Amino acid sequence: MANLEINFAGIKSPNPFWLASAPPTNSGYQIQKAFEAGWGGAVWKTIGAPVLNVCNRYGTMDYKGSKIIGLNNVELISDRPIEINLKEIAETKRNFPNNAVIVSVMVESKKEAWQEIIKRVEQTGADGFELNFGCPHGMSERGMGSAMGQVPEYTCMVTEWVMDVATKPVIVKLTPNVTDIVQPARAAVKGRASAISLINTINSIIGVDTDTFEIKPNVGGKGGHGGYAGPAVKPIALHLLSAVASDLEVQKARLPISGMGGIETWKDALEFILLGSTSVQVCTSVMHYGFRVVEDLIDGLSNWMDDKGFKTMDEIIGKSVHRISNFGDFDLGFQTVARINHDKCIQCNLCYIACEDAAHQCIDLKELKIDSRVNERLWPVVREDDCVGCDLCSRVCPIDDCITMVEHETGRPHITWNELSKAKPAVVQEWGKMEEYRKTANIDIH
Ligand SMILES: Cc1cc2nc3c(=O)[nH]c(=O)nc-3n(C[C@H](O)[C@H](O)[C@H](O)COP(=O)(O)O)c2cc1C
Ligand code: SF4
Ligand code: SF4
Repeated sequence: MANLEINFAGIKSPNPFWLASAPPTNSGYQIQKAFEAGWGGAVWKTIGAPVLNVCNRYGTMDYKGSKIIGLNNVELISDRPIEINLKEIAETKRNFPNNAVIVSVMVESKKEAWQEIIKRVEQTGADGFELNFGCPHGMSERGMGSAMGQVPEYTCMVTEWVMDVATKPVIVKLTPNVTDIVQPARAAVKGRASAISLINTINSIIGVDTDTFEIKPNVGGKGGHGGYAGPAVKPIALHLLSAVASDLEVQKARLPISGMGGIETWKDALEFILLGSTSVQVCTSVMHYGFRVVEDLIDGLSNWMDDKGFKTMDEIIGKSVHRISNFGDFDLGFQTVARINHDKCIQCNLCYIACEDAAHQCIDLKELKIDSRVNERLWPVVREDDCVGCDLCSRVCPIDDCITMVEHETGRPHITWNELSKAKPAVVQEWGKMEEYRKTANIDIH
């Protein structure tokens, strides 16, 4: 059986699955219960500056019968007294010496305040720290959270303050609410951080009540931006993770990454691992379904590794990072066409409508002799010579593997946009030259 153990910047964990700093890690009771359920580690709900929370903290994105595909919150950091948190951290670490106990911290932007909280947490025996530079609401208005994380110089400065006193590994948690995530990641490297985690929640307003005109979540008649998380944010999280994991400066520093944002299934988690996460963190799906989701995470990953013949986590961490590229380096000669398996087709015509109204009008409806359904209705048939391989029909088809995109050799040169720009600058600047090039390259756009 595959070994799921990880060593994350010196923090050992029996598996890569950690609870993210959030309501499920609010107390020792919860975290110890989670460890019993199988979680490898937990990042304690952020402790630090004094706060007061409001009622109605959550808004959800429910979509076509699915609850909580996205979760918006205006919750602040821990509102429990620091002394109680510190006592429970120590007790949790004592009771679960083999699990990773990481403490998320956030205080006002003063060197003494940061260094004091780090020293106090160190006494609990916790395995490491996570610096919360990401909270996008409530704390940021007070100059903390994302107010720190959005300015690389501040990220570097506070990380340095912490590194000057910390004896345990320090993870810098990045905010997604920036134009270029690589900048704060490099600031963390410059500040001598031991590791990076991402993403914290994304700034959002979840909706408006169309009967009362109130903003959701409604806090006594008022509402405002909150942090967005859950399955809906996964593609954004994967993109930001891949940007950090493929950055050469981050790679050179060899900092491990803890990835999160929308992880619900073991496959979600695996995608984060393949894109460079050594550990993965989960919040929303635990808030939705409870600690037991870890069973699917562990079984799924472990079975997949056994099936594929992988024995250790090191063999799979970052395995897809080298595939991250840019549009300019994609092969313009790679061609596909849609092919329909009429044995599977249920004649819903969604592909026909999509291609007709939103693609390149190359699916015809024809009489075909397929089976008993012969000619009761017309069948979709792709004119492969006209298909541009956009992939829309296969995306809308409700039947798995009914439409497949098959590679199609057209004789187009295998060249990238960057290579073309270099070899034939006029082609990428003038439409006339572009048309001439298309003719020579056998590219027919209609
Ligand atoms: C209600 C709620 C409270 C959160 N509180 C914190 C916090 O105190 N500190 C922190 O670093 N992140 C906090 N987060 C962010 C999560 O740790 C995590 O980064 C984010 O939810 C993305 O993961 P997910 O999609 O699995 O929920 C919170 C998230 C939610 C939904
Ligand atoms: S791949 Fe695009 S162009 Fe080709 S048949 Fe499908 S929708 Fe039409
Ligand atoms: S969308 Fe799929 S099932 Fe529906 S008609 Fe097209 S090929 Fe058949």
